[in-house]
Amino acid sequence: MSSPVLELRGVTTEIRSVRGLVRPVDEVSLSVAAGEVVGLVGESGSGKSMTAFSILRLFPTKAARVTGGEVLLNGRDLRGLSEGQMRAVRGREVGMIFQDPASYLNPVLTVGRQLEQQLQAHALGEGAEARIAELLTDVGLSPEVARRYPHELSGGQSQRVGIASALACRPSLVVADEPTTALDVTIQAQVLRLMARLQRERGVAMLLITHDLGVVAEVCDHVVVMYAGRVVEDAPVAELFARPHHPYTQGLLDGVLDLVTPKAIRVAIEGSVPDLADPPSGCRFHPRCPHAMDVCTREVPPLTPRPDGPGRVACWLHDPGHAPAAAEVAS
Ligand SMILES: Nc1ncnc2c1ncn2[C@@H]1O[C@H](COP(=O)(O)OP(=O)(O)OP(=O)(O)O)[C@@H](O)[C@H]1O
Ligand code: SF4
Ligand SMILES: [Mg+2]
Repeated sequence: MSSPVLELRGVTTEIRSVRGLVRPVDEVSLSVAAGEVVGLVGESGSGKSMTAFSILRLFPTKAARVTGGEVLLNGRDLRGLSEGQMRAVRGREVGMIFQDPASYLNPVLTVGRQLEQQLQAHALGEGAEARIAELLTDVGLSPEVARRYPHELSGGQSQRVGIASALACRPSLVVADEPTTALDVTIQAQVLRLMARLQRERGVAMLLITHDLGVVAEVCDHVVVMYAGRVVEDAPVAELFARPHHPYTQGLLDGVLDLVTPKAIRVAIEGSVPDLADPPSGCRFHPRCPHAMDVCTREVPPLTPRPDGPGRVACWLHDPGHAPAAAEVAS
């Protein structure tokens, strides 16, 4: 198998806050190969965006910092790079698409000028005009859009410009954080299909953050489920949907069934994501887990291979040394 484009190995990120040290990313490991779309899912506050920020060291707060692990991009550990070297990686080797395109489009520059500046910044300025026209066409916009200012674009058009910008320098990895959440529902599917098509055509590796499992089913090859800063399960998308092993994944997928199968009687995952300044001991899901055992309150379950196929799961139910008899689980 080819080596991954992106590999996170035990990445830990900490934020110093008035309430103490928060660890929104706790020994996260995942990988994305060329041409693959890996979905990162989990409830709000589970650390999805912080994981993306940790790759690029672009945090919304100065108090955040990667404190452990390796961030390997095409085999090179980005943690060893200076800030200047990181600037060369962002937008060039790694394209980024965010939830709100307005947050990264400069309101006083035309679309064409912004794309041109981006190409020039990475020494790709030669033939920029033709390249920009090609990029805009690729994302389903008229080359005329180059002359417009961001406020003259609709939300869907802005996000298409965002995608053009992410792909402009032919990156090997694209990180997309809730790229369609801010758009009208009718436009969301169009933009997602566009992203998926461009990604496939170019063989780019993509890490797609979303809490929409319908999106995952449609565009992802592999899914990583996060809970309270940790990876709790990951597997190829078909395997995960057919046989979720972690009680949290099971709860998430049951929520989806609720949407499409009104008659299904499903219990929502009760409670909410724990306070990361004071997380539960042992398995962080134990206060909400219908199968919690003694060991769950004391010890962190390690990520181990899923019992019946590829992927990993972190749950004592699947640990041979701790798995209770079926009757015990049911009680
Ligand atoms: N600016 C910040 N200052 C302090 N702590 C923060 C900040 N942003 C995030 N956090 C902490 O990091 C945790 C993870 O946040 P993150 O934004 O990664 O969640 P998320 O999974 O992307 O959620 P959402 O689905 O809402 O985007 C939060 O629960 C919070 O404890
Ligand atoms: S380790 Fe225990 S508490 Fe955590 S998900 Fe598994 S059974 Fe539930
Ligand atoms: Mg987020």
